[in-house]
Order: sequence, then C-alpha cells, then structure tokens
Amino acid sequence: MELEMKNVHLRVGDRLKVKGEIMHDAERFQIDLGSGADDLGLHFNPRFHDDDDGAVLVCNSKTDGSWGDEKREIHNPLQRGTDVKLVLKLVGDMFEVELPNGQEVQFPNRHNMDVISYIKIVGDFNLTSFKIC
Ligand code: GAL
Repeated sequence: MELEMKNVHLRVGDRLKVKGEIMHDAERFQIDLGSGADDLGLHFNPRFHDDDDGAVLVCNSKTDGSWGDEKREIHNPLQRGTDVKLVLKLVGDMFEVELPNGQEVQFPNRHNMDVISYIKIVGDFNLTSFKIC
C-alpha cells in the first residue's frame, strides 16, 4: 500500500496512531514524517529480511534528498502476518515510536522540526486506521 499526505499539521506533543496488518510475506514497510519527500525527520523502516541484520528496525532522516546516518534497532519484535498498532510521537528533541509489546524506539529530531507537514506510509502493510490525536 501507499499513502502520501501533504499539508498535514502534526505538532510537538501530538500522536500519530497507525493500525494495520503486516503482510504475511512482508519484506519491509516504512512510515515517513517530515516536511516533504526529500526532507524527513523520521524514516521508520521495519525490515524482515535485511541482508545484514535479518529482522531489524531501521531509522533514518533525509535532508535535501540525502539519507543521514542510519540507526538500527536489532531487536525487531514486529511479526509478519499480525495486526499491529504503532504510535509515533514528536516529543521535541526526539521522535518516539511505541511498538505493540511496549518497546519504544527513539530517534533524534535532527532537523529540529516542530511541525510535521508530510506523512507517507508505504510497503508491505495493510493500513486499517490512521489518526492524529
Ligand atoms: C536505504 C533504503 C531506503 C531507506 C534507507 C534508510 O538502503 O534503500 O529505502 O530505507 O536505506 O537508511
């Protein structure tokens, strides 16, 4: 699936709740938050068959179309073929992603974004609901 939204307004303190099913044969999916496709504060990218790390949570930022330094969380508790709820938050100097098992992934807000105006969800994921609250 692919969902791309422009002109959204997610502020510091807001939460983005994403629910859906990870496809049973998923390779990867991603949730991108930023100001445009080329400028992302957070690229949250669960992978299930990464060449180096197998199942891994990859996070990165993008500036003027160039990726920054990847941060990898080797423990990826997400299971293919399951329904999940992910909660993404911008808490000031950090992005936080709450996983279904209570684990929290943090990634620095390298661009010091205080508003997210661009959201993209793409990959091997069937979105069932999406909410900013
Ligand atoms: C690349 C990949 C991109 C993105 C990036 C994150 O290797 O092609 O889709 O996930 O890593 O650092």
